[in-house]
Amino acid sequence: MLAVLDAESWPPELWVTPPQDASLPFFTQWRRPEDVVVAEVDGHVVGYARVARHMRVVSNEHVLHFDALAVSPSARGRGIASLLIEAAIEEARRRGVRKLGLRALSTNSVALTLYDRHGFVEEGRLIDEIRLPDGSYVDDVWMALFFR
Ligand SMILES: CC(C)(COP(=O)(O)OP(=O)(O)OC[C@H]1O[C@@H](n2cnc3c(N)ncnc32)[C@H](O)[C@@H]1OP(=O)(O)O)[C@@H](O)C(=O)NCCC(=O)NCCS
Repeated sequence: MLAVLDAESWPPELWVTPPQDASLPFFTQWRRPEDVVVAEVDGHVVGYARVARHMRVVSNEHVLHFDALAVSPSARGRGIASLLIEAAIEEARRRGVRKLGLRALSTNSVALTLYDRHGFVEEGRLIDEIRLPDGSYVDDVWMALFFR
């Protein structure tokens, strides 16, 4: 179900990698159910957020990453992503981390505006880091929310 949602949620202009084959299992050794929160409307999953460690070393244990956020196109513009972001922040607080980081494409203005509204600040950006399927280059923006 989440793999299907992913496949329908990410247009090529937001691809860092193409979404996985929707028929393959969503959860893997690295993508764990306990790291995912879903949003439901009338019993249907319409969005999800996932957090995870991004460097599995002891010196980075105080950092959690906001690895994925997607809302089904038919459910957008109703504040669902905002609720999912709040849930991810709450989970980061519950885990006692110092920092919740994320990465977003510089062209993803809807996502960047949402993150900014929830207190994330830009830490820096990797210029022209991602080449999109149409051949254009976009920046990889690193943002973080600090709990210190
Ligand atoms: C980004 C995404 C998660 C937002 O989901 P959502 O549930 O529609 O988000 P919300 O309704 O909480 O908020 C969206 C805000 O952006 C605004 N918005 C929506 N579409 C917009 C557009 N095309 N241009 C500008 N603003 C837009 C909405 O009006 C809303 O602002 P408001 O609260 O002031 O009304 C969703 O568009 C998505 O899944 N996109 C593809 C995957 C993605 O980009 N994920 C993030 C990767 S870093």
